[in-house]
Amino acid sequence: EKIIAFRKALLDWYDQEGRDHLPWRLNKDPYRIWVSEIMLQQTQVKTVIPYFLRFVSLFPSVQALAEADEEVLLKAWEGLGYYSRVRNMQVAAQQIMTEYNGVFPDKPEDIIQLKGIGPYTSGAIASMAFGLPEPAVDGNVMRVFSRLFEIGEDIAKPATRKLFELLVRIVIDPDRPGDFNQAIMDLGTDICGPVNPRPEESPIREFNAAYKNGTMALYPFKSKA
Ligand code: ADE
Repeated sequence: EKIIAFRKALLDWYDQEGRDHLPWRLNKDPYRIWVSEIMLQQTQVKTVIPYFLRFVSLFPSVQALAEADEEVLLKAWEGLGYYSRVRNMQVAAQQIMTEYNGVFPDKPEDIIQLKGIGPYTSGAIASMAFGLPEPAVDGNVMRVFSRLFEIGEDIAKPATRKLFELLVRIVIDPDRPGDFNQAIMDLGTDICGPVNPRPEESPIREFNAAYKNGTMALYPFKSKA
């Protein structure tokens, strides 16, 4: 079946070419995955790496973060900006301590209730840490999928993310959902980037409708910058 072949092509490529050295991919600790996803929201991978390593050594667990001195915490975030991100993380860590005895919740509907965690971050943690077939749709994912399926919906509209979530739920690999989501991210960072994509180099080019039809330039459609 076509979906099976698609998953295999993507994951075989990820196993060969994926960025498996990224420090938050070394294990499935939900705490580390959470910290990395929050940092990566507004900051590039190569900038995040040293901040991430320092942060998780200063605050190695949910409990350490929940109990951290505010001054030390903000200092560790210096340079990343958007301090509300780390303030929200501490509130969420305190929520996990009181509501879940310090154990990171493993249900998407519980994860998304935590302060500062929206659908993207919740899906990333659920899939990468807990192996659940949850979508983690960000701009990268919308770019890749809009080209694959020639989806012309406006990606600047909040409602459009839900459409892509439905699509990802259908095609995500149920055996390796976290790797599937991260493979799409890796593809969207390099081969399927916002400018000068190289679809001829893509492991999933044979499934790429926009490439086949010569309409790559039309996707993703975005009404405003
Ligand atoms: N950007 C956001 N999340 C990421 C991840 N898990 N790996 C690489 N880049 C990302």
